[in-house]
Amino acid sequence: MQTIGVIGAGQMGSGIAQTIAQHGMKVLLSDIDRPAAERGKGAIDKALTRLVGRGKLQANEAEAILARIEPVADLAPMAAASFVIEAATENESVKQAIFERAGKILGADAIMASNTSSIPITRMANWTPDPARFIGLHFFNPVPVMGLIEVIPGLATSSDTIARTRALAEELGKEVVEVQDEPGFVVNRILVPMLNEAVFVLGQGTASIEDIDKGCRIGLNHPMGPLELADFIGLDTCLDIVRVLYTTTGDSKYRPAPLLMKYVEAGWLGRKTGKGFYDYSGEAPVPTR
Ligand code: CAA
Repeated sequence: MQTIGVIGAGQMGSGIAQTIAQHGMKVLLSDIDRPAAERGKGAIDKALTRLVGRGKLQANEAEAILARIEPVADLAPMAAASFVIEAATENESVKQAIFERAGKILGADAIMASNTSSIPITRMANWTPDPARFIGLHFFNPVPVMGLIEVIPGLATSSDTIARTRALAEELGKEVVEVQDEPGFVVNRILVPMLNEAVFVLGQGTASIEDIDKGCRIGLNHPMGPLELADFIGLDTCLDIVRVLYTTTGDSKYRPAPLLMKYVEAGWLGRKTGKGFYDYSGEAPVPTR
């Protein structure tokens, strides 16, 4: 059985680990310490239990999936992995420390991938011992449900690494788009300016939170309106991405909406903090403006 290491057991890391285990592979799941990795496995347990409750999964299948996920206290056991996917905090020094440590542990043939949504792959590859075996592997949230992966080679990524990465993505049941290492890749480059624009529209008083979302849900046939989607992704993540687009291109069309910065400064980061453009503390979300 193929073993994959997943570094970071938050929303994305646990979704990635769940998806890998659902496709019959073994996962070593790490975070800053073992209890954090255990919490990630706990979130997966909850998601699987919901699927069992809705008749989408048999209880014994859920058990088998969970049994393939092993929370680990440290990266050392990942020496056994053929592939390691980093989905830690979107912070360069955190990622650099991870890649430098992983580089000392991983096998000579193992591939290191990052789920970053905004840091250049070529820059991160330089923090590893072999940039030819480093690549971007960008998943979408919720990972077990969303059908796409962006595969992003850096300047030095080898064609063998690209082929093996595409093969893994396909084994996970995902469609692949191969994208050059440019800010925001493809999907976020298009999506995040739209979410930022929705916050400008809100800040200008053009329409209410509910009507902006309703307009896009019904008028564009999107599953979520832009403000509820921003809450779902995390307003800090949206702001980080739009800032990267702004600073790397210098193009004023990417300037962050002042109201988005204000929500982030207030610590209203969306669903993960219980409050963003909506308040999630009650039965149903309530708009915060
Ligand atoms: N594991 C497995 N299946 C799951 C699951 C999980 N953790 N969570 C949900 N599902 C399944 C459900 O069982 C359900 O399956 P069926 O259709 O077979 O019944 C399906 O997913 C839909 O779930 P729900 O019925 O609970 O919810 P919904 O119909 O309201 O859909 C949603 C929820 C899938 C999130 C939908 O609203 C949606 O697609 N929203 C847009 C999400 C999006 O745009 N994501 C991309 C964000 S950008 C990003 O991620 C990149 C970045 O870098 C910022």
